Amino acid sequence: MGDPVIAEASSLPAHVPPELALEWPLSPEAVGQDPFTEIIPRVHQGPEVFYAVNGLAPGMPSWIFRRAEDVRDIFRDKVHFTSAGRPTLSHMLGESWKVIPVDTDGEEHAAFRALLNPLFTPARAAQLVDGAHELARELIGRFANNNRCEFIGDFARPLPVILFLNMMGFPQERMEEFLEWEAAIISGTSLEQRQSAVINIRTFLLEAIAKRRANPGEDLLSELMRGKLGERDPTETELFGMALNLFLGGLDTITSMAGWHFRHLAMHPEHQAALGADPAMIPTALEELLRAFLEY
Ligand code: HEM
Repeated sequence: MGDPVIAEASSLPAHVPPELALEWPLSPEAVGQDPFTEIIPRVHQGPEVFYAVNGLAPGMPSWIFRRAEDVRDIFRDKVHFTSAGRPTLSHMLGESWKVIPVDTDGEEHAAFRALLNPLFTPARAAQLVDGAHELARELIGRFANNNRCEFIGDFARPLPVILFLNMMGFPQERMEEFLEWEAAIISGTSLEQRQSAVINIRTFLLEAIAKRRANPGEDLLSELMRGKLGERDPTETELFGMALNLFLGGLDTITSMAGWHFRHLAMHPEHQAALGADPAMIPTALEELLRAFLEY
């Protein structure tokens, strides 16, 4: 990849100082197999804030903030930064529902987070640990004797996805179908493909909500449905929006992160050996891996 090119000043919006506008392609397609060796090091040598003319995709510019303090400030600033107006999944269908809470702002966001936060405390996460260990051992047991595995398919995909489906009370046997829908939304090449994935997920989630209404359980979706927004119950559309955010968040993030993390360890046997020799370092190593590889 060539050096970044300063964008043509005449083609920039008025608020963009030309010296901060760079034509770095940042989309995964443009960057190729390994953004962490090809583009991220260059980004870190550049300005702390810049305007990527082809940020997310050609013709989709974005401001890029490199410093954690700036990102923190932006998330807290309800006056200058908003989620409203960015393209959402519902716009693809000509509709206006929200993925909740990620598409909401301010008071509305706080109300949904107040409903969701009690379901995602460290104590709740701790309850998952034994089951996660057991599943991890079972998956490793399936390939341990081969001395090799296809890491994503054999481990990084089934581990978080099975845990998530169990948490939500969704059927494990539909895992491949769910993953296809998720993949179509994230990287579908045509609008029709992405639209039909959103419709399939919506049909499934609305049916799941109806089933829980008739027959509530102890799963996460049932608990979500028992939650309150202040004094009132969430509407069907709000429940769907929250379930959709969890569905999108739960199905591919950890697989993708674990892929980068274990690739790093495979390519750095000295780090692998250090963690093997002193497992107490694993939590710190994980923090650092999450920081280093978030999120492509
Ligand atoms: C390592 C794994 C994960 C990574 C890297 C990750 C990354 C992110 C990022 C970057 C955001 C902010 C998006 C934005 O503001 O536009 C976000 C929000 C969110 N994620 Fe994740 N995520 C992960 C795992 C999960 C899982 C497993 C779930 C659900 C089971 C989840 C549910 C959510 C929700 C509900 C939000 C919205 C939070 C809000 O707007 O207040 N995420 N995630």
